[in-house]
Amino acid sequence: MDKFDFLDERLTDLREKHLFRGLNTIESADDGLVRFMGCDSPKVLFCSNDYLDIAADKRVKEAVCQAVGKYGYGASSSRLICGTHKLHLGVEEAFAGLLACESALLFNSGWTANEAVLKTLPQKGDLVLLDRYDHASIIDAAKSSEAKFHTFRRDDLSRLERFLSNEAYNRKYIVTESVFSMDGDRADLQKLVELKNAYGAILIVDEAHAVGCFGPNGAGLIEELGLSAQVDIIIAPLGKAFGAGGAIVAAQKNVIDYLINKARPFIYTTAPPPVNCAAIMAALDIIKTEPARRKKLAENAQYLRAELTKAGFDTGPSSTHIVPVIIGDAERTMRVSTELFEMGYFACAIRPPTVANDSSRLRISLQCSHTAEQIDGLVNALRVVLSA
Ligand SMILES: Cc1ncc(COP(=O)(O)O)c(C=O)c1O
Repeated sequence: MDKFDFLDERLTDLREKHLFRGLNTIESADDGLVRFMGCDSPKVLFCSNDYLDIAADKRVKEAVCQAVGKYGYGASSSRLICGTHKLHLGVEEAFAGLLACESALLFNSGWTANEAVLKTLPQKGDLVLLDRYDHASIIDAAKSSEAKFHTFRRDDLSRLERFLSNEAYNRKYIVTESVFSMDGDRADLQKLVELKNAYGAILIVDEAHAVGCFGPNGAGLIEELGLSAQVDIIIAPLGKAFGAGGAIVAAQKNVIDYLINKARPFIYTTAPPPVNCAAIMAALDIIKTEPARRKKLAENAQYLRAELTKAGFDTGPSSTHIVPVIIGDAERTMRVSTELFEMGYFACAIRPPTVANDSSRLRISLQCSHTAEQIDGLVNALRVVLSA
């Protein structure tokens, strides 16, 4: 009898429900083709969040090599001890500028940035209002904050408005993603701004899947909509379109000063490696100066959606470079993903609890380097697999 036998029972349960998750190991990647351990042929990747093909850009690699030569790798301590490098400050200054905010603070990841903001700012007596499909990092942080929280539906904001009009709370926070990670649709930021203004709430927007991909400078959907002055706190995770890692929280200065003083996920952790800042700055330069990448990404998304719709597949409410093919049943979704993989395409199966029961899907994410031939190939493979 092993003391962890109980985990085997739980794992068996997951397997029986087709919800077991395993890891696919990448052996090498070249030009959008990825070779996985144990597979002879390379696959076309349709599940990377490196939307703008920046992670392996030559300029990023050079910047990282230079920085590593100068600073080594690790930051050696928390930012408040002796871990603040001028590269951290450079990133924060650049993002305060990009996101048109007074100040910015770099965190180790989007997860910790959301945790820091939502566990530090809202307090007992406050109310946090979340889109019901907000990312797990937002939901978990709100659940463990001292404030009360409720969820609302983005396709019917009347429930949100009802909560906002409740005067029993000290402060109210509205938290949304700008582009939703599993449906690829957009929050109605204009309407959320109107509501937060009408009820004096604080609006927090997570631009994880929009920063880099929208706006004239790649600052995100907020920039594209001209709402920079209206959003109170912006979270910008940098492991996706920026091809790096870490996340920025941008806001007015006293918010950032407060986080530096009180946010435990900032205070009690080793700072992001300075070389990560070099990668971020190189990515930022590419993102600002090469808007053609954003344009191509949007064109690819539009083309894929049109082809999938023509083929009769359900792409949900997607209007961006994240395009789900909603299948429903977890077992069938896994089977479709596996068969596509065998045909040379990797589109990840997303199952509960990441998405609602009976809405398992392939989450197809596009990159600006995808070609029309690759997209056609994926749609044809889907036709074959889903009609079987
Ligand atoms: C909306 C959203 N916020 C935050 C995160 C977490 O970001 P990170 O991967 O940097 O921890 C994700 C990750 O997928 C996300 O989709």
